[in-house]
Amino acid sequence: MDSDYITFTQLIKRKTGIDLRLYKEAQMVRRLTSLYEKRGFSSFQDYFKGIESDKELLHEFLDRMTINVSEFYRNSKRWEVLEKKIVPKLLQDKRSLKVWSAACSAGEEPYTLAMILSKFLPLDKIEIVATDIDENILARARLGIYPERSLQEMPNDMRKRFFTEDGTFYKLHPDIKKTVTFKKQNLLADSFGTNFDLIVCRNVLIYFTEEAKDMLYSKFSNALAKNGILFVGSTEQIFNPGSYGLETEDTFFYRKS
Ligand SMILES: C[S@@+](CC[C@H](N)C(=O)[O-])C[C@H]1O[C@@H](n2cnc3c(N)ncnc32)[C@H](O)[C@@H]1O
Repeated sequence: MDSDYITFTQLIKRKTGIDLRLYKEAQMVRRLTSLYEKRGFSSFQDYFKGIESDKELLHEFLDRMTINVSEFYRNSKRWEVLEKKIVPKLLQDKRSLKVWSAACSAGEEPYTLAMILSKFLPLDKIEIVATDIDENILARARLGIYPERSLQEMPNDMRKRFFTEDGTFYKLHPDIKKTVTFKKQNLLADSFGTNFDLIVCRNVLIYFTEEAKDMLYSKFSNALAKNGILFVGSTEQIFNPGSYGLETEDTFFYRKS
């Protein structure tokens, strides 16, 4: 690893608590180099001095290192499996579910979960915790206003039931907003809750090193209740679920044994 980047990762860790060494290096270096060059810096350490003296640069750095792309019902076939197979099975023995959307971006994922759960439970019985490392994106999630492109994969009945159209934007209704509580959390550093029936963590593990993924699979497994489900992204299959006390329930769904 380049010593300029190593020193930068240490300085950033001290300043923000974020350990960049747990993110895939080549990708991160490429993304951040093009950003600092654009801002006129010539090395990572030089860039850190800029970050120290200018809050805007810090925000821009945080924005670039967390990739916030998301949409409602992302990879909709997987959400169909959740609705048709996973949730009915989870609700066989329970009347409410403890649910966590980890790395939730602007809320598209936890609100999709709420919409699916609303087919089984009244809204006032749905409680979802949603977390992300990025405070700016969490503020947008709490606002619940989305451009049309975020809703492309959403079934029409859900769009009609839960949104009001406002020009080119869609505003989420307060009754469904209330089902989700957003909190700041760094998956790579903070502790997890326990006894979850369903954990959804999609499209963030791809950015992490193998070492970080390994640690996270164990932490997710410990956070699940017996028979609880971990739902991962469509490029994030776990190849050795058994070593984390998990069994494959369906493609991209793992059950705590
Ligand atoms: C590409 S988005 C995925 C959003 C959503 N889960 C989905 O699949 O559409 C990745 C999210 O992970 C968050 N993230 C990155 N590193 C994180 C970390 N260490 N802890 C928690 N969230 C993190 C980013 O802020 C971003 O919102």
